[in-house]
Amino acid sequence: MCDANPRRILTFPAIRPCESVSPATLVSSLITLCSTITSYKLKHLYTNAKTARDTLRLVQNILVFLHEIRQGDQVVNPSCAMILALSELHFVFQKLRFLLEDCTTPDARVWMLTRSEKVSNQFRSIYRSISVALDVLPLTQLSIELKELMGLVKNQALKSKVIVRPEDKRILDHLRSVLDQLELQMAPDPEHLKRVLDYLGISSWSECNKEIKFLDNEIASTTKKSDLGILYSLMGLMIYARCTVFSVVDCDKTPISGNHFVSYLNVDDFRCPISLEIMSDPVTLTTGHTYDRSSIQKWFRSGNLTCPKTGQKVDSGNVVSNLCIRNIIKKYCLHKGISIAGPPGGNQNRDIAQTVTGSSSVAAEAAIRMAVDFLADRLVFGKSEAKHKATYEVRLLSKSSVFNRACLVEAGVVSSLLDLICVRNSKIQENAMAALLNLSKYPKTKKVLVENGGLELILEVAQNGLKMEARQHAAGTLFYLASVDEYRDVIGKIPRSIPVLMELVLNGTERCKKNALVAILGLLMYPENHWKALAAGIVPMLIDMLKSSHQCEDFVTDSLAILSTLANNRDGAMAILSCGALQVTLDVIGSTSSKSSREYCVTLLLAMCRNGGADVVRVLVSNSSLMGPLYSLLTDGGSHARKKASSLIRILHEFNEKFASSTTRRPVHFPEQFVDVW
Ligand SMILES: *[C@@H]1O[C@H](CO)[C@@H](O)[C@H](O)[C@H]1NC(C)=O
Ligand SMILES: *[C@@H]1O[C@H](CO)[C@@H](O)[C@H](O)[C@H]1NC(C)=O
Ligand SMILES: *[C@@H]1O[C@H](CO)[C@@H](O)[C@H](O)[C@H]1NC(C)=O
Ligand SMILES: *[C@@H]1O[C@H](CO)[C@@H](O)[C@H](O)[C@H]1NC(C)=O
Repeated sequence: MCDANPRRILTFPAIRPCESVSPATLVSSLITLCSTITSYKLKHLYTNAKTARDTLRLVQNILVFLHEIRQGDQVVNPSCAMILALSELHFVFQKLRFLLEDCTTPDARVWMLTRSEKVSNQFRSIYRSISVALDVLPLTQLSIELKELMGLVKNQALKSKVIVRPEDKRILDHLRSVLDQLELQMAPDPEHLKRVLDYLGISSWSECNKEIKFLDNEIASTTKKSDLGILYSLMGLMIYARCTVFSVVDCDKTPISGNHFVSYLNVDDFRCPISLEIMSDPVTLTTGHTYDRSSIQKWFRSGNLTCPKTGQKVDSGNVVSNLCIRNIIKKYCLHKGISIAGPPGGNQNRDIAQTVTGSSSVAAEAAIRMAVDFLADRLVFGKSEAKHKATYEVRLLSKSSVFNRACLVEAGVVSSLLDLICVRNSKIQENAMAALLNLSKYPKTKKVLVENGGLELILEVAQNGLKMEARQHAAGTLFYLASVDEYRDVIGKIPRSIPVLMELVLNGTERCKKNALVAILGLLMYPENHWKALAAGIVPMLIDMLKSSHQCEDFVTDSLAILSTLANNRDGAMAILSCGALQVTLDVIGSTSSKSSREYCVTLLLAMCRNGGADVVRVLVSNSSLMGPLYSLLTDGGSHARKKASSLIRILHEFNEKFASSTTRRPVHFPEQFVDVW
């Protein structure tokens, strides 16, 4: 399922029929192919319509001929020339079918318009091939009528002047003038833009959005660098149109295909463990864990040459693109209509400002800027519906690129969004909060957010947001803000921060829980926040969570991460011990299938031993079920975990040696081979 690459638009991967194919098979395959082709007359042709219709008539006539010869004996005993001609037709009709498919693809209208010249050339070359094939076709055994018909067809193929149709040309000129205006940083003439959209039948928000998605996909997969400029310009223009021309968002809610395998996948499996974003360029380390390339590179650059999940040392040069996961993610996102930030392979960086050089980037950037200015105005002055639409557009824009985010922040959108998360309109609030979430990945946004008093407002949404989604986005935003040391302090100083996040852990949806847990973990990177979390009662809450057996593995891991961070301080360790954490940790380490959970358990046990003294060690020593997991970590754990596990084993061993003689307690059984080592 990893190599199902769909055909790219305007490529024509036709295959010549193999020589050993029987003539009868060849003819019936040709008939099927021709029937498919003629069925395109039922579809809407957006551009090059006349040329395509002429071609369809031609194929219709050839189909008559094919049916005729299937009846006769030419197929039973065909001449060499006949076979040659039929093979050639088969080859060229495959190309024709692809071409017609492209001309009728609803998402690629504007792109196909700009490719009109190429489309005409392709039709011309198809006509030429047809006339060559018909030239060698022996007509002697045919009836008079068929001879006449084929003569006509040949003539038509030979004489047809395939040109870019004047009606297409006129619209192309409008499109060019609009793009030229953008290049001069002028707003596109609304009349011209409207004519282009009308001609192509792009009459709704969702149709416009489909064009954008198509262009975005094309940018990600094109191998022709020279196409990038125009692709970006068109995408910029279409985004401008989506934001300014269509005032109603008409998302079509019908799922694309019901039983496609991707509908069973869980989006959380595609998230990078570091950034929590859907991975755009997944890479796998030697430890077998997969991260998004940009996240892991950042991690390496900051001097951590380890696998974040296992703590194992890794060679930062030895990361392998995970094409399989990337393909699945791509399909999933396509299926779900999610646009992913980054592209595979060659064009690593999709940021418009960085990818496109030369004048065409100017048009794309200008289009985005103007769209953003338009939206910034609507956010403040629009009526409720317009505000809602504008927050939705801002949310979409904030997803896709660094350039968009920078534009939005520069246009002052952040403070407008902060106003909008306070309104009592659940849709506006949710969209505004989602936009802030994605904008807060951008360092400048964090600063603006904090300086505009955004923290209180975001906490308010986290606590009392109208929809659970808004509360979840608020927790996510707090997580991003907590990645900055200074803000960990600021957030921690607001009394309700940690209690609000804890309430989300207790009462939120799965995503809410996850966001809140990682936000708390982020805050705990700042030692001053430890006692605040303890005072808020985080320890009993987490222990209770761990005790209830139906928690999903992710929460278990995150909870243990928080507890093992807190256990580093004596106060934390004491609070944890007094909640009966020892038994819970032993339960988890013995039953979990997650290595990271087991590793956090060891860290936690070690910290409890160090801070809790002999009483703790005694409990552990007396429990033989601990040893199995400890020894297995010695062999398969990350370097960090190995160290912790061996320290813990040493402590238990020393305790055992010291007291074994003086107590009647059954000594712990240490396998021989390990006793030598430690
Ligand atoms: C590197 O690892 C250390 C210790 O695990 C951690 O404190 C630090 O935040 C990491 N650096 C980055 C950029 O994540
Ligand atoms: C934020 O952007 C990412 C892509 O960069 C997207 O997958 C995610 O859904 C966005 N979040 C929200 C809340 O819109
Ligand atoms: C959880 O939600 C319920 C209602 O949905 C509420 O009654 C309860 O107080 C909430 N719990 C916490 C800890 O806020
Ligand atoms: C060891 O710990 C496990 C898990 O908590 C528990 O089920 C078992 O009873 C304990 N054994 C002893 C001897 O305490």
